[in-house]
Amino acid sequence: GPAKTLPKTVVLVGLMGAGKSAIGRRLAARLHLPFVDADTEIEAAAGCTIAEIFARDGEAVFRSVERKIIARLLTEQPVHILATGGGAFMDPETRAMIRRHGLSVWLRAELDVLLARTARRTHRPLLNSGDPKEILQRLMTARYPVYAEADLTVISDERPPEATVEQVLDALE
Ligand code: S3P
Repeated sequence: GPAKTLPKTVVLVGLMGAGKSAIGRRLAARLHLPFVDADTEIEAAAGCTIAEIFARDGEAVFRSVERKIIARLLTEQPVHILATGGGAFMDPETRAMIRRHGLSVWLRAELDVLLARTARRTHRPLLNSGDPKEILQRLMTARYPVYAEADLTVISDERPPEATVEQVLDALE
């Protein structure tokens, strides 16, 4: 069976709409591990939504909160499945933490999949400043070479999430 005793927290990285939360939840259930969503933890710690943090304090403040929360989860929580926000792995310090304490999995998705999955984009401040297709294309260009540094890459496409979960489980073996 797949990785019965995972030595490290599995950290899902990838763009908005890649399926980090949906895949992460199911992966956690399959492995009988807790699922943690870094964005949810940030909102709980800040007492407001991510959109509000971006609007009120700006992205730099958001990144520093994100850095602290992810560091805390990776060092203080038992092994779990951790979905991170799309920009987390782009932050050099956060990335170093993830590389050191976690097993990173890039959920790689193509533009049409990302666009379809982010159609309701009210809570995603980065997609609200212009044409979402152009923004996602720009983010793919900037981020995919860095996401490629993850320990494992799994393609996330239009198939049901269970199929992608199987591929992650295979990759973890
Ligand atoms: C961000 C992605 C979001 C959230 C924030 C910034 C990014 O998370 O952390 O809006 O920089 O890509 P999701 O990838 O879960 O949407």
